[in-house]
Amino acid sequence: MKLFHTIASARRWRKNLRSKVVLVPTMGALHHGHESLIENARKIAGKKGAVLVSIFVNPTQFGPKEDFQAYPRPLSKDLATCKRGGADAVFLPSACEMYAADASVTVCESKLSPTLCGRSRAGHFDGVCTIVAKLFLVFQPTHAVFGEKDWQQLAIIRRMGRDLNFPVTIESFPTVRERDGLAASSRNAYLTPQERTLAPLIHAAMAKAADLKKPQAILKSCTAAIHKIPGARIDYIEAVDACTLAPLSNRKNPGRLAVAIFLGKARLIDNIPLPSIA
Ligand code: PAJ
Repeated sequence: MKLFHTIASARRWRKNLRSKVVLVPTMGALHHGHESLIENARKIAGKKGAVLVSIFVNPTQFGPKEDFQAYPRPLSKDLATCKRGGADAVFLPSACEMYAADASVTVCESKLSPTLCGRSRAGHFDGVCTIVAKLFLVFQPTHAVFGEKDWQQLAIIRRMGRDLNFPVTIESFPTVRERDGLAASSRNAYLTPQERTLAPLIHAAMAKAADLKKPQAILKSCTAAIHKIPGARIDYIEAVDACTLAPLSNRKNPGRLAVAIFLGKARLIDNIPLPSIA
């Protein structure tokens, strides 16, 4: 497995590749959700193609009061995960390799970003779009792989790909969960043992609510169940159209039930499908 720290060295490697190049963008602290994305990337690339994982804790997507400094950076464990998943190369740039000190051009998505996580994380998705666009331009991947765990991010990146004509096929894969239903996340490490026992109740509340028909009833049930979790604070609980992220008023089109919940120091996000009902 090759390691690249500079854009120039990564570009030289890319130049010689003729078959599929599948990019898995990450911020590291890799868990089995990331590992399954890398394995899926390997399947897409096949024997002749190449799988590239980027590990970069992207400063521009963190707000001033967020966990950029505290974000875990277990590098040697991450490299072992990339290798196990079948990566051919890992890109590990520094912040000054990715951003000029006076960088002043960003990518801003304006329709899907202001809702859900965007409401409490101003500028977050501009940071995500900008770094993902830069990775697309540096590596010119044929495919890029994202998790459905971050549904809003996925919808925004699909929109960016369409609107800026990136010649990259965006592939997505379902959320990988712990045995008790908690969505695997690097931020689960912030939970105390007590909070960790409560965290799966979030997914349980969502799954039970999703059995109901009407979006209003789903929201009511989910909100009531999450209110009962000791110490849980609701950032948002929303039922949205899966593509436009607009509030869901009926079940004609596929939807998602999406939540962000504070539990102690951790802000946990999750979403599940609300299939259309004919
Ligand atoms: P990060 O949070 O490291 O996630 C990297 C990728 O892993 C994303 O596509 C995310 O949706 C996916 N992922 C995370 N948890 C998952 C799970 N439990 N099951 C399946 N996939 C999961 O998302 C980012 O980094 C950044 O915003 C990034 C796109 C790299 C831009 O900086």
